[in-house]
Amino acid sequence: MIHVDRYEKLWIGVSLGTLVLFLIAIVMSSFGSGIQVSGVAGQVDPRTVATPGVSPFGEPGVREVAPGQYEAYVVARAWNFTPRQFDFKVGDRVTFYFTSVDVQHGVKIENTNINMMILPGQVSKLSHTFTQEGKFFVACHEYCGAGHHTMAATINVSK
Ligand code: CUA
Repeated sequence: MIHVDRYEKLWIGVSLGTLVLFLIAIVMSSFGSGIQVSGVAGQVDPRTVATPGVSPFGEPGVREVAPGQYEAYVVARAWNFTPRQFDFKVGDRVTFYFTSVDVQHGVKIENTNINMMILPGQVSKLSHTFTQEGKFFVACHEYCGAGHHTMAATINVSK
């Protein structure tokens, strides 16, 4: 048997305990703040995806799929989102689908948990229920070239 000093054992225990504690903290805070992992909702051809008739991204915009439930198809390109303005009502549940027709972009919707990468060739999908009225700023958060800082959209949520 290898002899391990009593204090060494103690400190091994303390370091393992700290790791477990942090792991528990991460898991609890993740579930507590409702983090969802953005899903890959499909593979597309970035050269044709925004062509009318090829995919829903051919006519970007919002569709009502059931009362109070919407799907929003958004095309990202350097340096704008199409559409760039959305209007919803408090209580609306919206599933956002994003794709890029050129380079890698990102999207963060202010005061929501929507924060994901937008990659050419892939569809990124996340849902959100708007529970308060206001103006939500939508920003591209992945550097995508000279106009990156101008790439934004707005969501208006009213009663
Ligand atoms: Cu698109 Cu930065």
